Amino acid sequence: MRFAAIADIHGNDFALEAVLADIATQGITDIVNLGDCFSGPLEAGKVADRLLPLAIPTVRGNHDRYLIEQRPEDMHLSDAAAYAQLGGAHLDWLRALPVDLIYRNEVYLCHATPADDNLYWLDMATADGSVVLRPQAEIEALVGNIDAPLILCGHTHIPRMVSLSGGRLIVNPGSVGCPGYEDDNPYPHKVETGHAMASYAVLEKTSAGWTAQFRNVRYDNMAMSALAKANSRPEWAAALATGRVS
Ligand SMILES: [Fe+2]
Repeated sequence: MRFAAIADIHGNDFALEAVLADIATQGITDIVNLGDCFSGPLEAGKVADRLLPLAIPTVRGNHDRYLIEQRPEDMHLSDAAAYAQLGGAHLDWLRALPVDLIYRNEVYLCHATPADDNLYWLDMATADGSVVLRPQAEIEALVGNIDAPLILCGHTHIPRMVSLSGGRLIVNPGSVGCPGYEDDNPYPHKVETGHAMASYAVLEKTSAGWTAQFRNVRYDNMAMSALAKANSRPEWAAALATGRVS
């Protein structure tokens, strides 16, 4: 079995287009999507029109949830910018998304962690503003009773793979559309991949077990950076241009 996992598109239509083309070039037709599809100062409407017809298994991200739970006037800038571009059919699609799902009877999918769509799983922010690999015992504790041999999560935008007890593997494919951001929960910190390419992963089941190939795709990131700048989001513009927030 071989398939692609995409996550955290965040309204970046050019990045999604490039990733889908790269997936097709490899002859891969099966894709799963780990959520946070639209939020950001970019092309939420175009992403929705490209993504929904693909009908790929998708779990709901925290930002997908904000778009259907919050009043527009209460939304964060990135959610409000996306909401303004989405139609009723797009929002209905978001409302129908599950928070997690089992793909092909053996792959568990969620956005962040099984119990919390807004908690880093493989990484953690520290009091000094660093983002580091979470201790193994904490990662294992967050698995709960999930015994799937392959577990996929997104949310942090940091590509990472961690081996679990019992031979299980947990993989974050990184972000298709947002290579860096700032957050203040639980401590002020920056997530920065250090490059501006669109990231995703190819998962393959071999005779020895599951493995992941992390892929990074060039696309017209400067066009998306210019759009973010035009939409008065300089931190997005910087991240899209360089993979660093500043
Ligand atoms: Fe997220």
